[in-house]
Amino acid sequence: MEQGMGMTGEGKLRAVIFDLDGVIVSTDEFHYRAWQKLADEEGIYFDRTINERLRGVSRMESLAILLESAVRDYTEGEKLVLAARKNGYYRQFLDTAVSSADILPGVMPFLEACKAAGIKIAVGSSSRNSPTILERIGLTDYFDATADGNDIANSKPHPEVFLLAAERLGVPPGECMVVEDAEAGVAAAVAAGMKCLAVGSAAGDPRAALSAASLETVRWQRCQGLFE
Ligand code: BG6
Ligand code: MG
Repeated sequence: MEQGMGMTGEGKLRAVIFDLDGVIVSTDEFHYRAWQKLADEEGIYFDRTINERLRGVSRMESLAILLESAVRDYTEGEKLVLAARKNGYYRQFLDTAVSSADILPGVMPFLEACKAAGIKIAVGSSSRNSPTILERIGLTDYFDATADGNDIANSKPHPEVFLLAAERLGVPPGECMVVEDAEAGVAAAVAAGMKCLAVGSAAGDPRAALSAASLETVRWQRCQGLFE
């Protein structure tokens, strides 16, 4: 298989893989509110600073981070019940409060510009709710490929979800760029051998090739320049 050669000028940007929560849609806020509700009910301290560590990591790993502040140990069975409760709260938000209006600023013009330039686009998300979210925001059939929490054994920072998305696109990792809002996601992109555009909470991460507060201010040509 052809390898991306970004460092030598032979590589080319052929695909962009987008994280979903916090990159395409503002569901990251609903993840936070659902975890906060669970923590409050359980009498476990939780705040937005701790929540930052949950970005990009799986539901059970997120719960493990939340339980670091618990005053007692929880059995594996109790943990499954807690994770299901959190997901129930989160699903209520998805069912009642998420629509295409929650697509983040700059996302649709960026996606359209990629498509117009012949750059393939994919979703690479840790979330098992990814198909529901894409449906809620009207983008189910919009991407060339998707890979999500239902397809993988290892969550970010492991590169599995991005490598799977690239494989499904038929594009070598060295010719893919990832867009991420999570520290774990930037690490996953780098581990996959992909360049990363860090946005939102991840902007400024030194491992990212490019950072921006939001996709609103990024032109895909600037990303292409990273591969020349
Ligand atoms: C990621 C979120 O996209 O999905 C994490 O950034 C979340 O915060 C993870 O824990 C898993 O999501 P879900 O929907 O499968 O519980
Ligand atoms: Mg994210």
